Amino acid sequence: MQNGTAIEIKALKKIYENGFKALNGVNLEIRRGEIFALLGPNGAGKTTLINAVCGIVRPSSGTVAIGGYDNISQYRKARSLVGLVPQELSTDSFETVWNTVTFSRGLFGKANNPRHIEDVLKRLSLWDKKDEQIRHLSGGMKRRVMVAKALSHEPEILFLDEPTAGVDVELRKSMWAQVRSLRETGITIILTTHYIEEAQEMADRVGIINKGELILTEDKKTLMQKMGKRQMIFVLREQLTTIPSELGSYPLTLEKDDNGGKLILTYDAETENDISDVLDNLKSHGIRPKDIYSHQSSLEEIFIELVEVK
Ligand SMILES: Nc1ncnc2c1ncn2[C@@H]1O[C@H](COP(=O)(O)OP(=O)(O)O)[C@@H](O)[C@H]1O
Ligand SMILES: [Mg+2]
Repeated sequence: MQNGTAIEIKALKKIYENGFKALNGVNLEIRRGEIFALLGPNGAGKTTLINAVCGIVRPSSGTVAIGGYDNISQYRKARSLVGLVPQELSTDSFETVWNTVTFSRGLFGKANNPRHIEDVLKRLSLWDKKDEQIRHLSGGMKRRVMVAKALSHEPEILFLDEPTAGVDVELRKSMWAQVRSLRETGITIILTTHYIEEAQEMADRVGIINKGELILTEDKKTLMQKMGKRQMIFVLREQLTTIPSELGSYPLTLEKDDNGGKLILTYDAETENDISDVLDNLKSHGIRPKDIYSHQSSLEEIFIELVEVK
């Protein structure tokens, strides 16, 4: 395991008692200090994966090392390095914010450290609510209390399982800002989401999971470049049998349909392309499109394609 590695997951499988295969051999390395988004549809195995890493679900086979410690044979060491905000929030407590967060720390056998609890509450904009009962807080504050609890024992790695599921847009954005500010403290963050925008917004790297398999792990920037394909579509009046060879220098493809068909120019979002140049060339070959429109593939389309192929 390398120094820059926070978590190393190898050949992880989980078959539930009823025989359901929720994880089918996942290999994944999480780097120190990164925000990693595990993106996948409902039922893909995100929660199972996180729970298996955090020791809540026992893997059927495979290994997980957290900061170099095996999460089964060296459970306490491994577990002390991670904080988990579970998908299901339990937040109708009569306890105060301060007591709940302090109690969470105690569960890890750590000595009291009011300074740390204060830091965490301030960072999450909960300081002025420290004496409030949790049940009296707004939904967004309750979520932040869950994050504060997960940070109470000073973990190096924070798991957020669907941090903004069912939350309105405004709250989602403020949660994103909070997570970004946490990352500045050097903590490694792994979040699961089925919101593509969330992965796009937050992550340094994205892993796409479907049916218990990690089908892609990629730097977000690379993924964005891959998805940054643009198309200019020329709707034709008359059928073309082939693309004139003089137009061969353009990345054109011909798509036939019941009408005149379409000529499709595909290019990277980043490269400049002179559409009028292409148009002139088409014209000089007697090709006059009756309509022109552009199309940009989104992460959503890529995601759907990936997830449907499998
Ligand atoms: N305790 C369990 N017993 C049997 N099947 C389960 C259990 N927990 C989850 N599953 C199934 O495993 C699959 C993955 O679930 P989960 O990890 O919660 O997915 P996600 O978090 O990506 O929505 C789902 O099909 C779910 O129904
Ligand atoms: Mg889940």
